[in-house]
Amino acid sequence: IITPLSKRDTLFSDYSLLRVSPLGTIDWVEHEVPPHKLEEALAKHGETVESIASQFRELKRGEWIIPGFVDTHTHAPQFQNNGAGSQFELLDWLKYVTFPEEQKYADVEYAKKMYRRVVRGSLDLGTTMCCWYGTLHLEGTKVLADVLNELGQRAYVGKCNMDRESAPTYQEASADDSLRDTLSFITHVEGLSSQPSQALVRPILTPRFAISCTGPLLQGLGEIAKQHPHLPIQTHISENSAEIAYTKELFPHCATYAAVYDHYGLLRENTILAHGVHLEQSELDLIKSRGAGISHCPTSNFNLRSGAAHVGEWLDNGNKCGLGTDCSGGWTASMITTMQLASVCSKVVSYYTKGDDASITGRFSKTQFAKYQLPIQTVFWLATMGGAEVCCLQDKIGSLEPGKLFDAVHVSILPETDNMHIWYDESESLESMFERFMTNGDERNVSEVWVSGRTVGGRLFK
Ligand code: GUN
Ligand code: FE
Repeated sequence: IITPLSKRDTLFSDYSLLRVSPLGTIDWVEHEVPPHKLEEALAKHGETVESIASQFRELKRGEWIIPGFVDTHTHAPQFQNNGAGSQFELLDWLKYVTFPEEQKYADVEYAKKMYRRVVRGSLDLGTTMCCWYGTLHLEGTKVLADVLNELGQRAYVGKCNMDRESAPTYQEASADDSLRDTLSFITHVEGLSSQPSQALVRPILTPRFAISCTGPLLQGLGEIAKQHPHLPIQTHISENSAEIAYTKELFPHCATYAAVYDHYGLLRENTILAHGVHLEQSELDLIKSRGAGISHCPTSNFNLRSGAAHVGEWLDNGNKCGLGTDCSGGWTASMITTMQLASVCSKVVSYYTKGDDASITGRFSKTQFAKYQLPIQTVFWLATMGGAEVCCLQDKIGSLEPGKLFDAVHVSILPETDNMHIWYDESESLESMFERFMTNGDERNVSEVWVSGRTVGGRLFK
């Protein structure tokens, strides 16, 4: 078992035993149980080698169970564009690349075909919890929620609100239309589960970003949010310099970008803010005081040339933070690639901001994250526990501990068939093998994926 313990520490546990209940929760975990201590450890839980024999799965050296990845920000209707349009920066990219594709989701048949592929792909990459944007279409986005529920991914899914500054053929007719469809969407998604509080797929308010929403629309969404304190909220913030300047022009009564969302009551504990590349200190403090989380999307921030986010500063400042793939600003739905680029991003930032901490080990600091590259333990934490915190699901997912849901990935770097891309030595420590996976891993290493104990994806899943 490899699971995050804190922002700096990961548990690398050989010979672990983990028991999953029929309800998909983790009953118990025992660490460091070599074969000769197996019976003793099982006895503690009233089990014997015989009693568990039919359910027992043993892993080899080079195979681990890790918590599933939490993708805190991505767009389902943009997967068709992954890898296209990288010559643009944000605002032109939305206009020329993104909105024309999203508009196609007015066609429910197109939505059915595409969303099935999208969710299948995301699950097979090891993403067990995902914050999804749909389009502005009510029917098309209901299809996304249905597919998520059927294929079994834990998810927040939102119908985009956008009643201005988009394309004449791709924006909502009025704030009232947008609010009405949002309420219908929430009702539909809540209806997918008999127990809404335990639901796998949940609705999330999704004002696309301040630019695409009029004041009355944001106001209305703030009122819906107030009536539904547990309804999460997702939006974009401070991604690109031109976007920030335009936002300030549209909302002259607000001092900063973050202040716009705060003004309309949309900045709270269960708000997820994507990007935040250029957030000012006062905004980080405001976001922290409201308890909102930030989704760091390094793939997208590199691809659209938005900038290199100073994630270490956010962590030092105490802001909640996770990782997002942001397809198709980012070119891949892989959280493994996203972890790799989060690491690269922190190296780029540290190159320009070099710290001089006396306790520094190599290029890491033991006392601060800012100005140093992020340790792989921190990057792993961001992709799992950090994401769980951002989604306010830290009590349920993000690590492999008793009482949590078994949302997990079976990772294999065994040199069999197509896994020859990771080189390691049998005598290496678990920590060292894990570093190789973090640096060199990809979906070939994702053997099996579970959500609430149910097998839902992976290389070996048919
Ligand atoms: N800001 C508003 N909409 C979008 C989007 O679809 N992707 C990204 N990366 N930023 C946005
Ligand atoms: Fe985005």
